[in-house]
This record gives sequence, C-alpha cells and structure tokens, in this order.
Amino acid sequence: MTTLHDDISDAGPGVGPGDVPLRRITFSVNGVRTVAEVEPRLLLAHLLRRGLGLTGTHMGCDTTNCGACTVLVDGATVKSCTMLAVQADGHEITTVEGLATASELHPLQEGFKEAHGLQCGFCTPGMMLAAKALLDRNPDPTEEDVRWALSGNLCRCTGYQNIVKSVLWAAEKLGASSAGKTPDGGASSAGKTPDGGASSAGQTPDGGASSAGQTPDGGASSAGQTPDGGGEA
Ligand code: FES
Ligand code: FES
Repeated sequence: MTTLHDDISDAGPGVGPGDVPLRRITFSVNGVRTVAEVEPRLLLAHLLRRGLGLTGTHMGCDTTNCGACTVLVDGATVKSCTMLAVQADGHEITTVEGLATASELHPLQEGFKEAHGLQCGFCTPGMMLAAKALLDRNPDPTEEDVRWALSGNLCRCTGYQNIVKSVLWAAEKLGASSAGKTPDGGASSAGKTPDGGASSAGQTPDGGASSAGQTPDGGASSAGQTPDGGGEA
C-alpha cells in the first residue's frame, strides 16, 4: 500500500499533517491494483509521481494548460494536475509507463522514434496518451483529427509537425497489424507507408503546413514556458 502525505505526520496512522484525515483509495494503475492512503487535497499527478514513482507523468505548468501531465482515466484523457487523487478511487489509470510491454514498444512509441516526434521529450508522455485515446476511438484518423486530439497539449520545442507524423505512423502500423500486413508499408493496401515517404497514392502523413510555434490545432503556443515549468523535476 502506498501512503502519501505532504509531510511527515506525527499524528499517527490515518491522519496527515495538520490533522488532515487520510482517505484510503483503491484503483488500478497500468493494470496493477493499487491501494493508497492520501490526503483529500493531494493531486493525482503527485500521487503518481511521488507516491508511486511513475515519473513519466510530467508536470509542466500546474495550471491545466500544457498537457504534460496527461494520463488516461478509464480510457479518457485527464490532466492529472487538475484531478484529485481521491477521484481516482475505483478507476483505471494509464500512464506512459503502461504503454510498452516487457518486450515491445507501443506503436506510438515506435512512431515517435521513427518520425522524430520528440526533441527534449518533456511533452512526449502527454502527447502519447492523448494520441492513444484518439487511436482507441478512431483507428484511422486524418491529420486534422490528430491535430484536434493533441490541441490540449503544448510542445515547447514546437515539434508539432513530426508529432503529428508520429501519430499517423502509429495509426498506420496499428491498422497494418490488425489487417495482417507489414508495418513498413510495403504491403499496405492503401499504398501508404507509415513514414509517408514513398506512398504510391501520393499521400504523406504530415500533409499540412504546420509552422513552428503553433499548437497542433493551429493556435499560438504559449510563450515563456520552460520544459520543466518550474514544477517538479
Ligand atoms: Fe498539468 Fe500542465 S496541464 S502540468
Ligand atoms: Fe515537446 Fe520538448 S519535445 S516540449
């Protein structure tokens, strides 16, 4: 059981600092049943990072703007800096650590590698989870679909073009896998390759004309944010 208090308490079991009563919650993280005793004010992001050591969930802004802390709750994207840990009681949480298996990267992770979808990597876990939620509900997204799905996630390195390519690469691979085709695009019925480089149909996954400094949906990236945002390392 994970016990997480903001500070060491002298008040004894079940009570946090300042005599704050603790709440016991039971939830699943990446398929593992987990029990924790937490203060009601504790954020889910802090429970994941500090309580469970799942530091793949990043904290960039603490204000629901950047999306670096995005996780999946019952398959839906949630900014974990905005959700209380007690609200996770009875729910299934997926973090970036839950994407790969012991022997294989998730296609999204492969896609980010193959299509160069990351620079510093700070936004990457949140981007991948937002993309996973999209691909789970729409396995064959358009570029516009991807940009909308990622519009709540900011990349300070402004690498949106390749991030979108990466998600489309993953969609292509997942589609090829489910159709029993090769993921390198050589036998794709659509004639598309995951990296879009040699499509006989003339389609490229990036397709658009995203410019640096824009958000995936074309808005302006907020300036002045550092990759760590002054949050936890
Ligand atoms: Fe949660 Fe930025 S949105 S840390
Ligand atoms: Fe997105 Fe650096 S790669 S913030």
